Amino acid sequence: MKLLFIGSRLYDDIDWYVRSKGIESVLTESNENAINLDLPDQVFIVPRGMDGPKQVALMQKVDAIVPLIGIDPPLIDVARMKEEVEEEYGIPVIAAGVRAVELTSNKIKTKAFYDEIGVVTPNYQILNSPEELTLDFPVVLKQGEGQGGKDIKVAKSIEDVEEYFTEFDQALCEEFVEGSEISIEVLGFNGEYVALPPIYKGETTIEGTHPLNKVKTGPCMVSGLDNNLVQHTAYKVAKNLASDGIFEMDFMYSAKKDQLYAIEVNTRPNGTRYLTTATCGVNSLCELVDMAIGEFSLSNISDKLKYFYSTEIPIGNYEGPAPNEPVKSFEDNDFVVHGPAGYQRVTARAESKEELEKLVDKLT
Ligand SMILES: Nc1ncnc2c1ncn2[C@@H]1O[C@H](COP(=O)(O)OP(=O)(O)O)[C@@H](O)[C@H]1O
Ligand SMILES: [Mg+2]
Repeated sequence: MKLLFIGSRLYDDIDWYVRSKGIESVLTESNENAINLDLPDQVFIVPRGMDGPKQVALMQKVDAIVPLIGIDPPLIDVARMKEEVEEEYGIPVIAAGVRAVELTSNKIKTKAFYDEIGVVTPNYQILNSPEELTLDFPVVLKQGEGQGGKDIKVAKSIEDVEEYFTEFDQALCEEFVEGSEISIEVLGFNGEYVALPPIYKGETTIEGTHPLNKVKTGPCMVSGLDNNLVQHTAYKVAKNLASDGIFEMDFMYSAKKDQLYAIEVNTRPNGTRYLTTATCGVNSLCELVDMAIGEFSLSNISDKLKYFYSTEIPIGNYEGPAPNEPVKSFEDNDFVVHGPAGYQRVTARAESKEELEKLVDKLT
């Protein structure tokens, strides 16, 4: 088997897995100074966009293409390339298609999609000016596109809304949900979908603190919330998106209203994956490789499922004990350190909550 990976930034997470499967690896990257370029068997530096990767895939006669792109903007080009390459050359591309990316890359379209398929999402309005607001404060103002909390503001008063409009001339305005933030990864391939265990990402705050800066835990244990409901809802969303790859979904749960709300979907490798792997043993990036080599199946996932208590802590710069090889995997580790210097996080797991606390003490 010979696979083309697009993008090197996440490649160190799966290099060990690609090797363990005896796969020949080809990688394209647009930045010649990017990390991990020493890891694959062959690397091609190509211009930005999907033309280069497509040419390399054809020239190298790869069996499948696995995009490893962790940011939103290129996803639509990847989706278009997927449809072309699958149709014209019969080479599978393990990624979301055009419809799924169009529905999920814009938060306004995602809200309409939730309404259409009967999944509850916080009440919202599209505002063209502050005067149009009818929802009660606090409200959350967002732009259609963005990730990591970019361009998001919690408005407590009309003055806050007016201030937001000095920067933008439209806003997705959403009812503020007071409650728990939950993320879940769903894997989809060839019409089969599996929702992995949900992860708890902390409580919403009136400051709009992004979960990137909070302590998270797995599995999700929120009083009053049934994880089956989260998994079932996530499954329904993925099935209606009807595409391949990873779907990471954000939900919120209001205990006061006993209501689960769908917030957004990301059709790409995402920050939830370390905690998912720590908690249940399934690594979404490795599953992309399995999809590419024809080994992905629900029974295969079931065989891998494990049950751990896990947590992820932002630590800045990790100074604890060194992990075993492969360092970015739980194969021979009960913790993984990830993220860029200064913004590192450690994800740790143990058989019980007590052991997890001891481990965290040792690591931080
Ligand atoms: N309706 C809401 N109620 C309360 N907090 C919210 C709401 N929407 C977003 N937030 C806060 O802002 C964060 C980012 O919002 P999200 O829509 O997930 O955008 P992003 O793509 O930037 O992650 C959320 O994780 C949450 O902390
Ligand atoms: Mg989010």
